[in-house]
Amino acid sequence: MRFVDLIEKKAEGFSLSEEEIQDMISGYVEGSVPDYQMSAMCMAILQRGMSDEETADLTMAMMHSGDTVDLSDLPGIKVDKHSTGGVGDTTTLAVAPLVAACGGTVAKMSGRGLGHTGGTLDKLESVPGTSVEIGLEEFKEIVRKNGAAVIGQSGNLVPADKKIYALRDVTATVRSIPLIASSIMSKKLASGADAIVLDVKTGSGAFMRTVEEAEKLARLMVSIGNLTGRRVRALITDMNQPLGTAVGNALEFREAVQLLSGMVPETDPLYQVCMLLGTHMMLLGNIAADEREARARLKAAIADGSGLRVLKNMIALQHGDSSYVDPEKIEELVRVRRKIDITAKTDGFVTAMNAENIGTAAQMLGAGRATKEDVIDPAVGLVMKVRCGDAVRTGDTLCTMYVNDETNLADSIDLFLQAVTISENRQAVPPMIYKVITEEDL
Ligand code: URA
Ligand code: CA
Repeated sequence: MRFVDLIEKKAEGFSLSEEEIQDMISGYVEGSVPDYQMSAMCMAILQRGMSDEETADLTMAMMHSGDTVDLSDLPGIKVDKHSTGGVGDTTTLAVAPLVAACGGTVAKMSGRGLGHTGGTLDKLESVPGTSVEIGLEEFKEIVRKNGAAVIGQSGNLVPADKKIYALRDVTATVRSIPLIASSIMSKKLASGADAIVLDVKTGSGAFMRTVEEAEKLARLMVSIGNLTGRRVRALITDMNQPLGTAVGNALEFREAVQLLSGMVPETDPLYQVCMLLGTHMMLLGNIAADEREARARLKAAIADGSGLRVLKNMIALQHGDSSYVDPEKIEELVRVRRKIDITAKTDGFVTAMNAENIGTAAQMLGAGRATKEDVIDPAVGLVMKVRCGDAVRTGDTLCTMYVNDETNLADSIDLFLQAVTISENRQAVPPMIYKVITEEDL
């Protein structure tokens, strides 16, 4: 079949076969399918959608477009987690150690931050010496010793995604749910996990602006897992405000250390999402019998310091200075020239936040990259002092900014103040956790 006929088939709303999808991906990666035809195909997929089976076929074809990581020689069920991208989301740095402390095997490949969202690799690198570029054998050795390691994607993982994502970015096809699901899942499957807990974010700081859209994406990814022989669950959680209080690299690392040291209250959203992620990772990893047991053991790993010890060992084994993994010593990593309290200009209630703009405000201080080449200042960012629903008076601190370079400070403050809505009347606060989608829900 000529590729033009395949575009027409999808444009008319028919399903593509497994073989057609495989030919499409190999043709595009090899170059026999040009960008303009693949662009038209992406638009046809955006308009017409794909069935769960087509999306699973697409995921597998993309996964096999490059190298895949084999973790089968590591003991136990390898459990991974993935977040669709948030602000102030330092869950990986807390949950991977906690699950490992409870007997799980977490061999995780993470990404860097771009735009308003942070990246786990950048947060890890805020601890001096820490390396995230570690070869596969050494990576596995660290996981064998410590139960957890977090590194960057090595080698040539899912080249099809790199090429298709670049195309989607400039053809208004990023928001296609089958294209998002296959993009995320192909990378997760290629990095070798047996079981994956997905945290699908919804709200002002997320790709999926509504709960309905987030649920569609979540169900599709759980279904792909089912069709490709991996155990997948998805949480749908709120991103209408930063998850933790810290937005910035060393600041978020500090918050993870605080959580592992028992200093983050159980009522905090970050704590709650960490517990839920950890619980489902333990269930999929067959290391806890039920939710109650999982939760109790995760709490014990905080109380007895075993989770913090795993993080400390992980930093040491990844060549970092692990003395910083200490709630007092880590203060040295967030030392900045100026700390500036940003205050409320009126009395009222915090009724909404734009999480994306709060992330961008931190990025403008040097906490994130506008382009891939930008250099991050690990110490800078902001720490939130309020959450949606809080009552504030004029002059109350909304956040503290950690500042070294003041070039974009005024713009950052403006954007932050615009991002926090203070109204006269109290309004209902969005829930933190909307739903958990398991295979049984399909
Ligand atoms: N994250 C991804 O990795 N891919 C997408 O398409 C969207 C979010
Ligand atoms: Ca993240």
